[in-house]
Amino acid sequence: MSLLTALTKEVLTAILKSIDEGIHVVNMEGKTIFYNEVAARHDGMKVEEVLGKHILEAFPSLTAESSTLLKVIQTGKPIYNQTQVYLNLHGVRIDTINTTLPIFLNNEIIGAVEIAKDYSRMKLLAERLLELQKGLKQNKSKNTLKQVNYTLSDLKTVNADFIRMKEEAKRMAKSDSPILVYGESGTGKELFVQGIHHESLRSNGPFIAQNCAAIPESLLESILFGTAKGSYTGAVERKGLFELADGGTLFLDELHTMPIELQAKLLRVIEDGIVRRVGGTENTSVNVRVIAAMNVHPSEALQEQKLRYDLYYRLNVFTFPLLPLRDRKEDIIMLTDLFIKEFNRKLGKQIQGINQTLELFFLDYKWPGNVRELKHTLEYMVHVCDSGKLSWHDLPVILKQQSGNWNQDNRGNEGLSLRRNVEELEKKLVTEAMKQAGGNINQAARLLEIPRQTLQYKLKKLT
Ligand SMILES: Nc1ncnc2c1ncn2[C@@H]1O[C@H](COP(=O)(O)OP(=O)(O)OP(=O)(O)O)[C@@H](O)[C@H]1O
Ligand SMILES: [Mg+2]
Repeated sequence: MSLLTALTKEVLTAILKSIDEGIHVVNMEGKTIFYNEVAARHDGMKVEEVLGKHILEAFPSLTAESSTLLKVIQTGKPIYNQTQVYLNLHGVRIDTINTTLPIFLNNEIIGAVEIAKDYSRMKLLAERLLELQKGLKQNKSKNTLKQVNYTLSDLKTVNADFIRMKEEAKRMAKSDSPILVYGESGTGKELFVQGIHHESLRSNGPFIAQNCAAIPESLLESILFGTAKGSYTGAVERKGLFELADGGTLFLDELHTMPIELQAKLLRVIEDGIVRRVGGTENTSVNVRVIAAMNVHPSEALQEQKLRYDLYYRLNVFTFPLLPLRDRKEDIIMLTDLFIKEFNRKLGKQIQGINQTLELFFLDYKWPGNVRELKHTLEYMVHVCDSGKLSWHDLPVILKQQSGNWNQDNRGNEGLSLRRNVEELEKKLVTEAMKQAGGNINQAARLLEIPRQTLQYKLKKLT
């Protein structure tokens, strides 16, 4: 052995001994040639009990099929982030998340290395979280087991496409098929999903909502599917959200943040209605309707590999895209009116709508936060307004800036341009008619004395 090789080996050994992950290396015969203290601690073994022994001799509960190290030697293919549950020589159950890689020398496989993270601590955290949630539930605070506060009729709209979608949702609510709802933040997904549950034959059953982004990836599995007693240190028998939602609806928000491997498991449960707790052996049938939501477009989530194609195809049958507010101008007008009335009531005010300049800005503004942003903006404005109508002065500072730019862009070079002025006047008249008609296109068209189709075209142009 050259000096360099010997040195490299020393350095490598020192590193592998000191890192926080368990490292286990086997040769082509399946015999352990390196095994660090951390791996020994995970496994509840002594290094000497494993070193030099064949994997199946040191870990009798494993088989040639279930051992990832042996599999990688056979196939030469890496296995990433696999959870592993096994009994060590002392009969203690072990939980790890493993990445197992083949080792090649001159293009020839000479062994495999497994890097293992202790999973038990994470699971213990999952337990604590579930305990906490249970405690909260008993306190009747805001938690995953939600009260359904909204019906589809709370989702206000005068947009023809949205109205059609609500009608379809009402029909689909009666079926048990899974549903996917997507739309930008603040477009009403939560309202829509609660509305579907309310319309469904399960409305008396539980409605459980889980935001997949709110839980560390490694805990989500235990939260969704539950845990079996003894599956790791301190684990108790516990139902997951699927079992808790039995007879009702499980709402999985921000589905695209769910780890892709877990999505495969979710698909299986949706297909056969059977769950198995993490570390458990028993199968339980559940009758749960899954509704998923995302604030990104499915095509984007698919492309970025945040959503599995097979899961998407399963959910795709009933997919509801909720339109951004800027694409339904008539709703901007109707909702502005509605929210002003609501906040008048709440704040004891008597605001009579908004002035025309502000209205034009509202119609032109992109509303990235959609209805939520409109609602909060109006709450603020009604609060600060001390005249009869909301005007530019009442806008929150951030929108005032936007409105300033908008005014310059839209009015700066207005001058004598007949086209621009006519367009502007038309915009004003259309907006006013829509307002007087309470967002009803037929009625607004009558007021303007133009055909409905022409008005629809003009409204589209305003978008
Ligand atoms: N069509 C609507 N009619 C009345 N209120 C609405 C409508 N759409 C949304 N809202 C209101 O806007 C707010 C945001 O709605 P919701 O929580 O359903 O949005 P979301 O799409 O789930 O957003 P996020 O992706 O940020 O979770 C709520 O206060 C809701 O009541
Ligand atoms: Mg939401």
